[in-house]
Amino acid sequence: MAGLIPQAFIDDLLDRIDIVDVVDARVKLKKSGKNYSACCPFHDEKTPSFTVSPNKQFYYCFGCGASGTALGFVLEHDRLSFPQAVEELAKMAGVEVPREAREDSPRQKERRTLYEVLEKADAFYRQQLRHSPARQHAVNYLKQRGLSGEIARDFGIGYAPPGWDNLMKALGLTEEDKHLLAEGGMLIERPEDKRRYDRFRNRIMFPIRDTRGRVIGFGGRVLGDDKPKYLNSPETPVFHKGKELYGLFEARNAHRQLPRLLVVEGYMDVVALAQFGIRYGVATLGTACGEDHLARAFKYTQEVVFCFDGDAAGRNAAQRALENSLSSMQDGRQVKFLFLPEGEDPDTLVRQVGAEKFTGMIDMAVPLEDFLFDSVSDGIDIQSMEGRARLSKRAAPLLHQLPAGIFRELMFANLAQRTGLPLDTLMELVEAPPEARPTEPKPRPPEPTEHKSHSTSPQHTDPDFQSAPMEPENSGSGYYPDYLEAGPAEAPKAGTPQYRGPLHLPPTKLLCAILLQHPELAPSTPDIPEISASEQEDLVVFTELLALLRQRPNYNLSRILGHWRGSKGAAATEALAQLAATDLISHARQAESYDGRQEYLDTITRLEDRLQQDRQKAELEKLSRKNFNELSESEKQQIRDFHTQNQAKGR
Ligand code: UTP
Ligand code: MN
Repeated sequence: MAGLIPQAFIDDLLDRIDIVDVVDARVKLKKSGKNYSACCPFHDEKTPSFTVSPNKQFYYCFGCGASGTALGFVLEHDRLSFPQAVEELAKMAGVEVPREAREDSPRQKERRTLYEVLEKADAFYRQQLRHSPARQHAVNYLKQRGLSGEIARDFGIGYAPPGWDNLMKALGLTEEDKHLLAEGGMLIERPEDKRRYDRFRNRIMFPIRDTRGRVIGFGGRVLGDDKPKYLNSPETPVFHKGKELYGLFEARNAHRQLPRLLVVEGYMDVVALAQFGIRYGVATLGTACGEDHLARAFKYTQEVVFCFDGDAAGRNAAQRALENSLSSMQDGRQVKFLFLPEGEDPDTLVRQVGAEKFTGMIDMAVPLEDFLFDSVSDGIDIQSMEGRARLSKRAAPLLHQLPAGIFRELMFANLAQRTGLPLDTLMELVEAPPEARPTEPKPRPPEPTEHKSHSTSPQHTDPDFQSAPMEPENSGSGYYPDYLEAGPAEAPKAGTPQYRGPLHLPPTKLLCAILLQHPELAPSTPDIPEISASEQEDLVVFTELLALLRQRPNYNLSRILGHWRGSKGAAATEALAQLAATDLISHARQAESYDGRQEYLDTITRLEDRLQQDRQKAELEKLSRKNFNELSESEKQQIRDFHTQNQAKGR
C-alpha cells in the first residue's frame, strides 16, 4: 500500500458506480416504487425496513438508522478498512486506484510487516497441528479437553512443536525476517549473546485477533502441568494487552448484533463456551479487565457480564472489575457480575450443566448496582448510625466516578435511602479528601502477568469427568478426523457491525412525517399526555396536526398543507411539506409487508418512554437539591419508585 487515495478519485468512483449494484451483490434487493428494499443486513428483522434510493445513491434503514453511501455500505458490510473498501469498489468499476506519492512512515511500514509475519506464524502453527511429527500429543490433549475440531478451526488453534527454533527456521530466513519475528514477540533474544530462539515451544497456540481479524499475538498453553501454564505474546507495536479481548472478533462474527459480552478469565473458557453455542465470551489476556477493555466491549454491545470464580480470588477480581467499570456506566449500559460455584470455571461448568442452564445463570447475574452496595456494606452494621455513616463514606466516592446521567442520580438516591442521609450531605462526602476514600481504586498490579496464582480446577484431571464430558449441542461424531483433514480455516464471514451513526430522522420528526403521509393513522393514535403536553417544537406540530385530523378525518396531505398555510403561514408550511416529502419513508411504508402502522406506534412508545425519563430525571434533580429530612413521605416514595422502576427496566 502506498500513499493516500486522492479524494477526487473517490468522488469520481462514486459517480461511476451504482449503489443498487453494490448493495444488490450483497443483499438481494427488491424493487419497490422508485426505490429498492430488503431486510436490513445491519440488524435482525423479519420485515424489510432497509431501503436503497438510486436517485440519492444512498441507503437507509428505518429499523436501526444505518445509512450511507455505497462506500459506507461496503465499509460496514464487508468490514473493510477505508482503502480496502475503495479498492473493492474500484474493482467493480474496473479502474485502478491511484495513490498519492507518499511513502508510509517507517512505523506504519513496520506495523504492516508485523501483521504479515504474525499471519505467517499463525499459519505455521495451524499447519503443525496437522503435520508435525509430535502432533498426536497435541491432538490428544485437545480431545481430552473436549474441544471439537470445528471449534478448534473456528478459533484457529494451532500447535508450536517442541524444539528451540522450529518457527525461526521456517520463517526467519533472513536477518530482517528474524528481526521482525522478534519485534512481533515470536522470538526471544538473549541479552548476553543476542542469540534468538522460539518463544513458544511445545504449546497449544491460541491466536489473538483484533476486531478486523488480523492476528496480533498469541497465547500458548503447555500440554501438561508445567509452569508457566500460559505464555502470552509480549507488548508489541501491534499488540496491547490492556486493550485487547480474546474472542471479540469471533464473537462479533457469530452475531448480527452482539446480545452481550461475557468476560471470562481464560482462553479455554472462551473456546468451550463457543463450542456450546455461547458465542459471546471474551477474555482479557492475563490482566484485569480495565477501562480500555470496557471501552472496547461497549463499542459493540450495551451489556457486559463479568464471570468470576466463586472463590476469594474471584471476589477480589470482581471488586477490581467493579471499580474499573464505574466510569463506563453511561445511561443505557449494563454491567453484571456472575459468580460461579467454587472450583468451577466456565469451561468446566458449561460442560457439566450445558448451555441452557449456563445461559440461565448469566441471565440471573448480579447487576452492578447490587454488587456495589453489597460490597460496600460488607462488615458494616447498617442499623447503627455509625455504620451508615461508614457506608456512605465508602460508597460516595465510588458513585462519584459514575458519569453524569440518570443512573448516577438513582444510585445516589438509593444510597440516601439506605443511609437515611440527605442527598446533599452525600454529595459533600464525594468532595471529601482522598484519605476518606477507602475504596478508591487500587493501582493496577504490575503488568507482565504471565502468571496468575490460579489453581487448576480439579475437573481437569478428574478421570471420571474426562471420561464423560457432555456432548456439546453442535457436536457431531468424528470431528477429529475432519479436524485433521480440515483445510485452512475459512475466510471470516462477511460481518455486520453495529451501526453507530446518527439517525436519519429523530423520532419527533418521524412521527410528523408518517402522520402527514398517512393521515388515516390519526384516529388510532393513542393519547399520550407526555407528548401532547410537550413544548418541544416538533411535538407541538404533531399535536396540532393530530387535532386537525381528528376534526377533519378526511383531510389528505394537500388539504393539510392548505390548511396549514392559511393558519401558520408559508414558512411553517414549507417545513411541513419537507417532512412529508421524505421519500424514503413513504417508500418503505409502501413496501410489501412493511407495517407502517406498527412503526408509527413503536415510535410513539419510544418517544413516550424518553419523555418520561426526561421528566423523571428533572424531578429527581429537583428532589436531590432538597434536604432528605424535608422530603415528604410521598416524595421519598417517589425516589424509591424511580429506583425500582429503573431496576425493572434494567438501567
Ligand atoms: P486459568 O489458569 O484460570 O486458565 O488462567 P484456564 O483458561 O482455566 O486454563 P486451563 O483451563 O487450565 O487451560 C486464566 C487465564 O489467565 C492467564 C491466561 O490468559 C489464562 O487463560 N494465565 C494463566 C496466564 O497468562 N499465565 C498463566 O500461567 C496462567
Ligand atoms: Mn480452565
